[in-house]
Amino acid sequence: MTRGSIFKLFAYAVVAGAITTAVAVFIPWLPTAATRQADRMWFSIWFAEIIAIVVFAVVAAALIYCVVEFRVKPGDTSDGPPTHGHTMLEIIWTAIPTVIVIAITIVAAIVIHDNGKAGTNPLVIKVVTQQFTYQFEYPNGKTFNILRLPKDRNVKLDLSSKDVIHSFWVPAFGQKTDAVPGITTSIVITPTRTGYYPIICTQLCGLGHALMRSEAIVLESTEYDSWYASAGEAPAAAAGGTDGKSVYTAAGCGACHVFTAGGSAGTIGSSLDNLSVDAAKAGEELNDFIRSSITDPDTFLAPGYAKGVMPSTYKSSISGAQLDSLVQYLAENTK
Ligand code: CUA
Repeated sequence: MTRGSIFKLFAYAVVAGAITTAVAVFIPWLPTAATRQADRMWFSIWFAEIIAIVVFAVVAAALIYCVVEFRVKPGDTSDGPPTHGHTMLEIIWTAIPTVIVIAITIVAAIVIHDNGKAGTNPLVIKVVTQQFTYQFEYPNGKTFNILRLPKDRNVKLDLSSKDVIHSFWVPAFGQKTDAVPGITTSIVITPTRTGYYPIICTQLCGLGHALMRSEAIVLESTEYDSWYASAGEAPAAAAGGTDGKSVYTAAGCGACHVFTAGGSAGTIGSSLDNLSVDAAKAGEELNDFIRSSITDPDTFLAPGYAKGVMPSTYKSSISGAQLDSLVQYLAENTK
């Protein structure tokens, strides 16, 4: 190879590498990492990314060089010169990918191992999923439908499901874990940035799957401590208390139902705005009608709605007092 052709190859590689690097760097492919675990994952992604950019630049340079230099000349109909394998070249192009794959594997294994470590005193929060809602149970026994986390503390989420497979994913936290009926899965999170982050269910879990969303709020540890202390005494503050509206929100009714007073516009289930009319049609007294529609949803089906869509788990997942206030809340705010 002449010095000129080496220079050309090098120039093609620099141009291809620069374009690919620009695409990788200037388009925000990843959300800003908000946990220590996400930092590690982003590192492993960039580690593989940089290797990929270098490999792409080398391959693209060789390809462009060959296309430009060895293009057939006009009028040349002869065969090309015969070639056969080059043992040293084949050893090199087997050895380099082997080293690359092993290196990526080692980095990924270390990241996965470190991300699973909860430390000695993690904050353990139970995450109970069901169609189509999340419940977060804290060590003091209080349950909320929004996840509040303290910054810079190891948090271990123990996930379970009451019905089908759901999942827990916060893009900025990096990791994603399924909640599987019958077993407990877990995920360790160490938040590093305060703020609001969406929680998304990523397993197709039924008609309301697309609406199965919640929110994680990362607070400074002092703010978290005061929230935790006051939340313990004022159960109705966020959700999971016994006032009807909180139960409505915590149980996730709004994900599936239109209910003007509750500010919800879900379209999976029937509207809750005209329950008196529905009760009359069913020949039931309003409160009884609402109660049985929650505990045994298939008893009175609104026209056009199928059996088995609304979970029949509410009779066990909502306490007696919560059910009473939910029934009362709906009866008072419907037409
Ligand atoms: Cu739960 Cu999708």
